[in-house]
Amino acid sequence: MKNVHILDHPLIRHKLTFLRDKRTSTKEFRDIMREMSMLMGYEVMRNLPTEQVEIETPMEIMRSDVLAGQGLCIVSILRAGNGLLDGLLQLVPTASVGHIGLYRDPDTLIPVEYYLKFPEDVASRSVIVVDPMLATGHSAVAAIDRVRDMDVTDVKFLCIVASPEGLRVFQDAHPDVPVYTASIDRQLDDHGYILPGIGDAGDRIYGTK
Ligand code: URA
Repeated sequence: MKNVHILDHPLIRHKLTFLRDKRTSTKEFRDIMREMSMLMGYEVMRNLPTEQVEIETPMEIMRSDVLAGQGLCIVSILRAGNGLLDGLLQLVPTASVGHIGLYRDPDTLIPVEYYLKFPEDVASRSVIVVDPMLATGHSAVAAIDRVRDMDVTDVKFLCIVASPEGLRVFQDAHPDVPVYTASIDRQLDDHGYILPGIGDAGDRIYGTK
């Protein structure tokens, strides 16, 4: 699929197996998700713009790279997106964070927005929208719509598992937005859950079931 990047490094595939396993505890699940967000974030951030600054090594003066300009904004789709935040912030502690709260209407599976907070300068930042699951694709599309309403030009989407159905919905709406995922799973079930998937990511991160 065009503009979909499957991050299949052995470490990522190894960790995904433990995320999928229903015996994995809440603490382990959170830890693994943080580790995966760092491994995947490394790749998602590959093209972040850099600029040169002058520094002095113990030996001599040189010019060396740092992340450029206003930098990065991570937009988390609540609540499961927060499971990917810590790891990404560990990679780039200066990143700002936006939140978008969406819940799925259980009958229509259409996302309903209940919260939105973006940094004021988000338009000048590289934005990574994060949600562990790209399932129906509706939440991801709605989140990218909101980011684009803010005149953001550089935006990517990071998830752990995507469904083929969701990817089609996403690509119809935002064909130019790159998606990074560790896996494209088989299909959605009748309730919009991914098969084989990892279950309800929010419940597994927060131990709510
Ligand atoms: N949200 C989840 O947490 N899991 C799915 O499988 C689909 C949506």
